[in-house]
Amino acid sequence: MDDAQLEQLAAAHPELAALREKALEVIAAAGADTAIEEARVRFLGRKSRLTEILRSIATLAPELRPVVGRLGNLVRVELEQFVERRAAELTKAALSASLEHERIDVTLPGQPFPAGHEHLISQTMREVEDIFIGLGYRIAEGPEVELDYYNFTALNTPPSHPARSSHDTFWVQEQRETMPEAVVDADRGVLLRTHTSPVQVRVMEAQAPPVYILCLGKVYRRDSDATHTPMFHQVEGLVVDEGITLADLKGTVAHFTREFFGPERSIRVRPHFFPFTEPSIEVDVNCELCGGTGCRSCKHSGWLEIMGAGMVDPNVYGFVGYDPEKVSGFAFGMGVERMAMLKHGIPDLRLFYDNDVRFLRQF
Ligand code: PHE
Repeated sequence: MDDAQLEQLAAAHPELAALREKALEVIAAAGADTAIEEARVRFLGRKSRLTEILRSIATLAPELRPVVGRLGNLVRVELEQFVERRAAELTKAALSASLEHERIDVTLPGQPFPAGHEHLISQTMREVEDIFIGLGYRIAEGPEVELDYYNFTALNTPPSHPARSSHDTFWVQEQRETMPEAVVDADRGVLLRTHTSPVQVRVMEAQAPPVYILCLGKVYRRDSDATHTPMFHQVEGLVVDEGITLADLKGTVAHFTREFFGPERSIRVRPHFFPFTEPSIEVDVNCELCGGTGCRSCKHSGWLEIMGAGMVDPNVYGFVGYDPEKVSGFAFGMGVERMAMLKHGIPDLRLFYDNDVRFLRQF
């Protein structure tokens, strides 16, 4: 509205002129979307004084009606525009405030996040895997919570066999208790596997010979001291084919040992006993620390034990339906922690599971 119009309004309707002044003041001072909306309702809404005045023009003196009608509508349009402009201003201000506030400088270097890597135990398992995959073996898996039948009985270790007591077994009691009376015989007990050998039985059950498999994984025994942890890792190998002999086992182990520990290492084979292999052997590798002359780490023998092995006992074939007259084979098992300790000169088993990054970072 220009000055002349304002003067005219002040003369014709002083209340409307004052109302206009007040509205402009309040709208200009509104600092938030809600305040703008309140001002709009207050000055322009259906129940506002302005609406009332515009509706009651007919009650005014006849000479005032056209002037107040025209100027009153001008005031309404003017206030509407003013409200809109102020609201736009506020939105713009809020946007630039949030841009200012949440600004990210993409050129700043990021916070470095330390990159981890495979645990030495996993690395060692991958290394062993690679060597046997190179020989044509397949990787097999089996459950860690296992039936007594696979862990012992089918490995020619029936209930009451004395060899069972050499495995400090974790029994899963709850499962035994929820089993029907009829199946709670020793065979159907449930336990954490004490070795990876049950995978031999599961693989042979599932396929016909020839078998060339390697199984790696966690096993559990109920003991814990400087040289034992209740959970540790084993690698199990199983070969069943026609005409397999102990010479194949020796050759395979010798090849593996040279690949894993280095070409200058040699092995020694001693007779041993396992219920599921016959004959059974233990394999030693020559001690690198003393060069075979004897030291503390090899208990002055010049040799370090690395695995148990042997020719699969024909009784085991009986459990899986293989014909021992047609096929023969060997199995071997070794401790992954022990392999890693021997290879890297690690003095204490517990270092693997302390999770001290100063130890882990070295590998
Ligand atoms: N399963 C045996 C153990 O844990 C090791 C082994 C595996 C021996 C395969 C012979 C053949 O003691």
